Amino acid sequence: MAEYKLEMSTGDQAFSGTFDCIYVTLIGTEGESERTNLDNFGIDFIAGKVGSYTVKTSLHLGQLLLVKLEKDANFKILDDAWFCSKIVVTTPEDDVILFPCYRWVSDGEQVELRGGKAMKAFEDDHPLLTDHRKRELICHKDLYQWGTYGERLPHIASFKDSSEIPDEDRFSVSKTYEFAFGKEFTLVELKLKGTNNSTKQWEDFEAMKNVFWFKNTPMSEYVSEHWMEDDFYGFQFLNGINPNMIQRCLELPHNFPVREEMVKPFLDSGSSLQREMEKGNIFLSDYKGLCGLSTKVENGEVLPLTPGLCLFYMNPENKLMPIAIQLTQQPSEQNPIFLPSDPECDWLLAKMFVKHADGIYHQFVYHLLNTHFLAEPFAVATLRSFPVIHPLYKLLIPHFRYTFQINVVGRKILLSPGGPLHTTSLTPEGLVELMGRAHSETTYSSLCLPENIRARGLESVPNFYYRDDGLKLWNIINSFVKAIVDHYYPSDSDVCRDSELQDWINEIFTQAFLGNKSSGIPAAFHTVEEVTRFITMLIFNVSCQHAAVHLGQFEYECWIPNSPLLMRKAPPTMKGQSSMKTIFETLPTVGQTVGFMASGWVLTKKYTDSIPLGLYPDEHFDEPAPKQMIKEFQAELSFLSETIAARNAGLVVPYNYLNPTEIENSITI
Ligand code: FE2
Repeated sequence: MAEYKLEMSTGDQAFSGTFDCIYVTLIGTEGESERTNLDNFGIDFIAGKVGSYTVKTSLHLGQLLLVKLEKDANFKILDDAWFCSKIVVTTPEDDVILFPCYRWVSDGEQVELRGGKAMKAFEDDHPLLTDHRKRELICHKDLYQWGTYGERLPHIASFKDSSEIPDEDRFSVSKTYEFAFGKEFTLVELKLKGTNNSTKQWEDFEAMKNVFWFKNTPMSEYVSEHWMEDDFYGFQFLNGINPNMIQRCLELPHNFPVREEMVKPFLDSGSSLQREMEKGNIFLSDYKGLCGLSTKVENGEVLPLTPGLCLFYMNPENKLMPIAIQLTQQPSEQNPIFLPSDPECDWLLAKMFVKHADGIYHQFVYHLLNTHFLAEPFAVATLRSFPVIHPLYKLLIPHFRYTFQINVVGRKILLSPGGPLHTTSLTPEGLVELMGRAHSETTYSSLCLPENIRARGLESVPNFYYRDDGLKLWNIINSFVKAIVDHYYPSDSDVCRDSELQDWINEIFTQAFLGNKSSGIPAAFHTVEEVTRFITMLIFNVSCQHAAVHLGQFEYECWIPNSPLLMRKAPPTMKGQSSMKTIFETLPTVGQTVGFMASGWVLTKKYTDSIPLGLYPDEHFDEPAPKQMIKEFQAELSFLSETIAARNAGLVVPYNYLNPTEIENSITI
């Protein structure tokens, strides 16, 4: 007779528990237990509860390989699904083995769990385990299939609707309600005020401040007060929500003929543009990627989207100042170079058109494409290639929580006709074309922050908090990933032998990067170092980079003049012709403005079940080594958080988007 003690954990979210009967069968190398009904006095499987049970067997089962779970309905009409978090088994020899589950169990299913140490395919030496591994992958390949969204775009999961997403991958009940009610309450307020469908144009900026009664933050108020100031304008290209465009300018582009005398008054006295370029103090944002994109027609007018160029100067006070703007790529008399010394409304409009271009790039390229739409094929490849016992499944799966659903919802609501991202200047074809162009030029090194910063010549720019915090985060993530990868892959030959790992990176190369060799994305791994670099890049982009481009949407983009996603009137072709009236005619209507603001609020509000970077409430690893590495990762993140908070306390405009307490493990919104 042998006794196995089981601790059965039911998930703590709403409706995780069940009144149904739960059966367990323990399967070992020497045989299997009876199918045992786990039944203590009272209700056994209540949400959040851990129940202790004993399974007795006539013979010792040998090495424990699998735990089989089954559920039978007590009330035959209803399948009262059960969310099992984990099972901890103590063997007769007092070995304690973790069997992570984290899935729903329904009637008629036989859920077989593997437990213990993380294992790669070539380490499995028992036919039952090899067979289980194969069956699990076949099942996952059937469940997680590839789909497409647009030409030249990363492939997506095939789910068309949230209802098609496996239950484990869907929003929790609390997230579903908070998301739905947040949207509805926001719309109710706008309806009460009669602004949501208004086609009127704004008459003054004060009225814009009253769109919402309560939905302002100190930063959104700061933006509404300071958006016209040149130094705050420049600041945003480093520390706003799109720090991705700007680069050092060592030579003016041939199509941007800024002359010395034009900008001399804005440089340090006695200096010149040439000298400042040589000193590394001149920067450029170039929106040439927007050339020729199709835009909507509104009231018979084609909406403008200007592929402009904006030149900046880092002045001796370490303030980044815009000093010249050209709104389209081809220089001509009808495309003047605007300067800070021009009439106020000319300069303001020129800056607004640049921010319009910047906002479109931010939303569609740096936010949607490079974080949301890359995370999705990373997640599909992970689920298709790795069984749950694989160490990289255990490492990566928390970084894909809710990503399928937010992307499905995003495509269905935000990007569908009438949705807020559908009401930008771009037509749906223009939007797909922009993302397709950008994706075909996306490189592996551009997704790796240290190389990205170097390539843009931004290593020594002062007061660049996105870079400072981002690089620290990159290094912390890299140390953590390196520790885990080194632990499970002691040599390069372990990498080469891991067929599942090779399948994973090959799926990513072909499905996420469409087999584009010039991207530099590997199609196979040969060394441990290559694996570490890729996984660091992945985790950084789905957590930190997403936070950097997502969290400030309300604060920076919802003061619409600061970052309009739509402009209604063509840009000025001559100086001295624009007035405040022109600016209000150019800005989105009242209805369009409040639509953008409402979605910004819903997307950036805090959700109660968010999980910060580095917290892993679901236990996937059973060995002490990775558990200790997770603790060290958390300690480093916590220290960085304190450092950032101390730094921010001394700043007029704090930068908190890369504070680890604000970053989520995955793209959930
Ligand atoms: Fe997002």
